Amino acid sequence: MTTTPSQPPVALRHFLKLNDFSAAELNHVFERARVIKDRFKRYETYHPLLDRSLVMIFEKASTRTRLSFEAGIQQLGGNAIFLNTRDSQLGRGEPVEDAAQVMSRMCDLVMIRTFEQTIIERFASRSRVPVINGLTNEYHPCQILADLFTFIEHRGAIQGITVAWIGDANNMLYTWLHAAELFDFKVHMAAPPGYRADPAVAGSSISRLTEFADPMQAVKGAHLVTTDVWTSMGYEAENAVRLKAFAGYGVSGAMMAQAQPDALFMHCLPAHRGEEVEAEVIDGPQSVVWDEAENRLHVQKALMEFLLLGAVEG
Ligand code: CP
Ligand code: NVA
Repeated sequence: MTTTPSQPPVALRHFLKLNDFSAAELNHVFERARVIKDRFKRYETYHPLLDRSLVMIFEKASTRTRLSFEAGIQQLGGNAIFLNTRDSQLGRGEPVEDAAQVMSRMCDLVMIRTFEQTIIERFASRSRVPVINGLTNEYHPCQILADLFTFIEHRGAIQGITVAWIGDANNMLYTWLHAAELFDFKVHMAAPPGYRADPAVAGSSISRLTEFADPMQAVKGAHLVTTDVWTSMGYEAENAVRLKAFAGYGVSGAMMAQAQPDALFMHCLPAHRGEEVEAEVIDGPQSVVWDEAENRLHVQKALMEFLLLGAVEG
C-alpha cells in the first residue's frame, strides 16, 4: 500500500520543457488561464487544490517565480513550502533522486529552479508527483507560457508571426524555439558570434530560427520584439565580457521602428535599462511587460490545475 497521502487522480505528468505538452494541451491551459484570471479579477473564490502542498526548490534567486507560485497555490486553496539549497540538505550533497523520493511522499507538486536540465530530469525520474521547471540553464517554460498567453490576449493568435529575439542563446531563446515549433511561427535572433544557438540544445526546433548579426535586420517586420539580461544567472563570471560583446544590441526606439507598427515588446524581467533595453522601449506604449509578469500567476494556476486535476472544463 502506498504511503503517499494524496496521489494525483490523473496520470503523472511533468512540465520540464514546454514541448512536454502538445499544442492542444497548451491551448487548454491558456483557456483555463483566461477563465481563472477572469474569476480572480471578480474576487470569486476557487479552491480546487484545497489542502494540496507545493514544494518550491530554489537554487537560484527569484522574485516573480516564487511569488506567482506561492500566491497561485494559495489562491487555489493549497499551500506552498519554500526550500533553498543553502538551508536544506540539497546544499550538503543529498542526491536529488533521494530528495525526490522523500519530497514527493510529503507533497503533491514540486517546482524547481536549478542549473542543468539534467538535475530536474533526475529529480522527476524519481518523483511520484508532477515536477515543474521554474527555470534551468536550458529552458524557462513557465515564462514562455505567460508570454504566449500575453501575446494571445493582446493580438488573438500567435500562429504565423515573427518573434525577434535580441540576445544570447539562453533558456528563454530555447523555449521560444520550442514554442515556435508547437505553434508554427518563426524566430529571428540577433547576437554576436559566440552567443548563437546550439543545435544540440535546440533539437528539431532549430528549423524555426534565422540568425542575424545585425539586430536592425532581425527586428524587420517582427510582430513581437523580446530580449533578456545579457548575463543569465549562473554566468556572472562572464559579465564584463558579455557587456562588451553585446554593446549595440540594446533594444532601442529605432529598432522598434523597424518592426511591425503594432509590434509588442516583452522582457521576462528583471531588466537593465540602458543595457539590453532602452527605457523608452520598456516603459513605452508597445511594452506589455507588466501584463507579461502578472500572467505568470494566471498561467501557472492553470498549469497546476491541469497537472493535478487534468483537463477541467467550465
Ligand atoms: N522572469 C522570472 O522568472 O523572474 P524571477 O527570476 O524574478 O523569478
Ligand atoms: N535568462 C535569465 C532569465 C531570468 C528570469 C536567467 O536565466 O537568469
